[in-house]
Parts: sequence; C-alpha cells; structure tokens
Amino acid sequence: MDKSFFSRTAAASLLVGLAMTASAQQTRFLSGNHCIYRVDKSQKYLLLPVQEKAEMCNVKVIDGNNQVKAFNIRLASNHIDYYVPFFLDEYKESSNISFDIHVNGTYRNDGGIASFTCWKNMKYADSLDLSNREQYRPVYHHTPTYGWMNDPNGMFYKDGVWHLYFQYNPYGSQWENMTWGHSTSTDLMHWKFEGKAIEPDAWGTIFSGSAVVDHNNTAGFGKDAVVAMYTSAGESQTQSLAYSNDNGMTFTKHEGNPIITSSAPDFRDPHMFWNDDIKKWNMILAEGQHMNIYSSDDLKDWKLESQFGAEYGNHGGVWECPDLMKLRVRGTDTYKWLLMCNINPGGPFGGSATQYFVGDFDGKKFTCETAPEVTRWMDYGKDHYATVTFDNAPNGRHVAMAWMSNWQYANQVPTMQYRSGNSIPRDLDLYEYEGNTYCGVTPSPEMTAARPKKSTKTLSESCELVVTLKGTATITLFNEKGEKVVMVYDDKIRTFTVDRSKSGLKDFSDDFAAVTTAPVHGKMTQLRVFIDRCSIEAFDAEGRMAMTNLVFPTKPYNKVMVKGKAKYAVYNLK
Ligand code: FRU
Repeated sequence: MDKSFFSRTAAASLLVGLAMTASAQQTRFLSGNHCIYRVDKSQKYLLLPVQEKAEMCNVKVIDGNNQVKAFNIRLASNHIDYYVPFFLDEYKESSNISFDIHVNGTYRNDGGIASFTCWKNMKYADSLDLSNREQYRPVYHHTPTYGWMNDPNGMFYKDGVWHLYFQYNPYGSQWENMTWGHSTSTDLMHWKFEGKAIEPDAWGTIFSGSAVVDHNNTAGFGKDAVVAMYTSAGESQTQSLAYSNDNGMTFTKHEGNPIITSSAPDFRDPHMFWNDDIKKWNMILAEGQHMNIYSSDDLKDWKLESQFGAEYGNHGGVWECPDLMKLRVRGTDTYKWLLMCNINPGGPFGGSATQYFVGDFDGKKFTCETAPEVTRWMDYGKDHYATVTFDNAPNGRHVAMAWMSNWQYANQVPTMQYRSGNSIPRDLDLYEYEGNTYCGVTPSPEMTAARPKKSTKTLSESCELVVTLKGTATITLFNEKGEKVVMVYDDKIRTFTVDRSKSGLKDFSDDFAAVTTAPVHGKMTQLRVFIDRCSIEAFDAEGRMAMTNLVFPTKPYNKVMVKGKAKYAVYNLK
C-alpha cells in the first residue's frame, strides 16, 4: 500500500492506533450482514478502506443513542483500492461514536461481513496526505481532491472569487451519497478544494441546484447572503433552500424545507436568477420531459408561471439541469433568451449532452423561436454535460462550465483517487448564421490570459494548441505507443471531427471509442485545442463550434502532425 492517503507522520501514529485498538475488540458481528463498529476518537481521521467492486455497506453513524449521519460505502471485502477519510474532529463533543453497518448481498456459506478485509485495515491518523497520485489528473481543470464528482452546482462569483459547488461523494470515487462539495478559484483555472458544503439530511441527499447572491436581502437571510436551492432526493424529489452569510463557506438549511413539491418522479435541478426586466427572481427546473418556470419576490415563495419543452427538441432521455439567461446577439443591439437543457441519454454521439433553445422570455413564459423538431447542441463531444452558468459574474458575463464526462462510463474511467473533472470555463453569447441564431461558446478570456509569452512547436501534456487554418486540415496528436487523436477540419462541407478510437485506454466501456463530428458555422480560421492529460477541448476561436472529449493515452501525446493548409503553435499551460 505505497500509494496510501496518509503521510509518514500519520503512518507512524497509525501503528500506535492499531496497537491500541485491535479490530476484534472494536467490532461486534451480529449476523452475516450486520455489525457494530466502535470508533476510536483519539485521532482526527478514520481512514476507511474501499473496494470499488465490493457490495455496498449502509453505515449509520450513532452518537450515544442517536443517529447523526448515514452514508453508503463499499468497504473492502477482499482487497483495498483506496482509502477515504471520515472526519472525527466533527464529533469532538460526542462521548461515543459507533457505526451500525449493514452490508447488502447474501452470505450464507462464507464468513459474511466478519470475513471482510476492511476490519484489519481500518486506520487512524492525525494528518491526511491528499497529494495527487493519478497520472490523468488534469493540471488546469477543476477536479475534487478525492472522491467522485458529477454536475457543477450553485456556481457564483463574489468579491473576486469564483465559487464552484458540485455533486460529490466523499466516501468513494463512484456516484453515491450526494453532497455539495465546494472549490474556489480566482482565475477559473486553478481551484482550491474546500471540502463538503451541504450534506444529506432527513429530506434526502443533496442533488443539483443553483445559488444566487441576494444583494438586497429579499429573502431576509441577510444582505449579500448566498442563497442556494437544491433538490432534496429522498423518497420523492423536492426543492430545498440553504443560505450562507460567510460567502458560501458554510450553509444553514432553511427551516421551512422542502419549499416546492410535485408528484412527478423526476423533479429537480432548480436554477434561480435575478430577472432585471421584471425585477423579480425567476427559477427554472426540470420536471419529467419539460421545464417548469417560476417567479418569486423573496426566493422562498415560488409561483409556477409556465412550462416549456414537452414538444420541443430532443427527448431521447431525461431532461435535467436547466439554465435560462438573456444574451446579446453578437454585433447587434438585440437581446434574446437562451434556455439550456441537459439530456441523458439522447446526446448526438450517445449518452449525455447539452441541448439549447433560443427564444424570448417575458418573466413568465419562454417562447422558442425555432420549430419544435429542431435540436441544437452546445458541444458536439461526448464529455460535456450538466452545463450551467455562474451567478453574479462580473461585466455582465455568462460563464458556463460543464461536467467533463458521460453517464455511459463516468463511473468506470481509469482514475481512482478521484473521478471526473470540469470543462474549461466558456463565455456564452449568441450569433447569427444563415438566418438563425445560435449559442456562441468561446474559451473564457482567463484561458487566453494564461498563455505564456512564447509559443513552442513541442506538444506537452497540458497546453493549448492553436492551429491557423487556410482550408481543410488534419491534425494528429500522437505518442510513441502509436496512440493518437485525429482531428479533421473539412472546409468544403464545414465540419470538424475528432476520432479517439485509437487514443489509448478505452476498454473500460464499449461506449468510449468514438468519432464525433460537429457542423462549423462559417469558415474556421483558427482552431483552439485545450489538452490537459485526459481531455481534448476543441473550439472554433470565434465560438461557433465546441467539442469536448476525454482521452486516456498510456503515455502523453508528445507529437503533433499537421497536414493541409495550416500552421500551429503550442502554448504550455500550468
Ligand atoms: C445530472 C443529474 C441531476 C441530478 C444529479 C444527481 O447528471 O442526474 O439531474 O440532480 O445528477 O447527482
């Protein structure tokens, strides 16, 4: 176990811990499926051994005689994939902490839960070593320090800091125990992991949602309070509020939760925003195969105003994670509204993707300007999902970030300490092309500002590759193992294609190998490709084509070959 989570100091104190607390004394086995584990509180962390293919254990955390928490974890039964920390300093005031553990599965003919390897391997430590041990962890994209992540949630900007919350599992690197994790950044590229922000409660786990800065204290939670609305995923899906008076570092849950209910089984992902046209709050959420649109004066009482979408766009899967915003049409004084709708499955190349609609919104009803059968995709790669924008961004910007994965294989991608990262930030606007209005997706200016003064010709594992195009071109990234990503811009039929079928590791899922193609609206003169160890995000520099794909080369691509009417430059990014 040389790749463990804990440092040498912790490992030393760990020996003392083990000597003091033999596992047999700490654990009472009550049946093949059930045991009680007495927690030793003398150190700061209990390190729990996880095996990703083991059966799920349901853990009740009991303080004296009261349950104070519950979580699910795949405690190691035969071997250990990694450890996750349980923070004992959260229970400093408690006299006695125990876990009541139930494991799923049938154990009639073997030792049952008593035979699990985890009991000999529970560790205690006073410090955590969270340094990276993943070859694929990106350099300039957000990832959780450890544990699973999916959708970005509650993103907002305040006082120079970008806040990103996310669907987080602190007890393993696969989807479970939905909690809002939190990270902060001042440049949208480098992130500080702030840990758990909103944890599951009696109303359920904490699914996706949004946050707004309540400048005028409309909710009564305080001036400039950060107010979050999320889906409580319990027996039914309902909407709940929490607020923060310390710039989003800690949240207090609202006493009147849940504040919005429905009998629809899929009812989630509320996105709130201030609508200056009507001087009210609006909120959009996904209900089954349509969106509900609400209005409110105080963020607590919401009036259902209208529904949109049952007959519009793609319905190959569940509608999730909406967003709605007013954007200027490039080069004009016209404003239109953009309604974003993430859908899974049903994406253009299978699985998850982000579709959008352009139209008008009067504070009550969204009127789509395209015909019902028209579907528009915001990004044509396979790894761009749950895309939403930051609240309160400076200078009227609308900055979007996506979860850079696909539900088809997100739980299987070849990382362990963490799973999934976010896309680079993208500024959204609208542009016209051949009589239609489309969403423009341009790498945020922070990405350009991060370029070093000098470019090179040598490809590195975290860089931006800028290709100046004068016509059709093929750009191949490759390594000495013969692994490659082939990108083709076809100037005649105006398409851009990425082939990752020989890109490296792919056998973890039948759905991974893929060729993705996007229409390009107009002549592409500059292609910007952001490479960061396991991701390739390609953009028309003018924001008229975006394509995000993961890749897992066993060695970094260190060479680039450009054929056709094109020149390239590489900017290393740190
Ligand atoms: C989208 C989604 C959301 C839900 C969350 C749960 O990826 O399914 O609809 O709130 O993930 O983690």
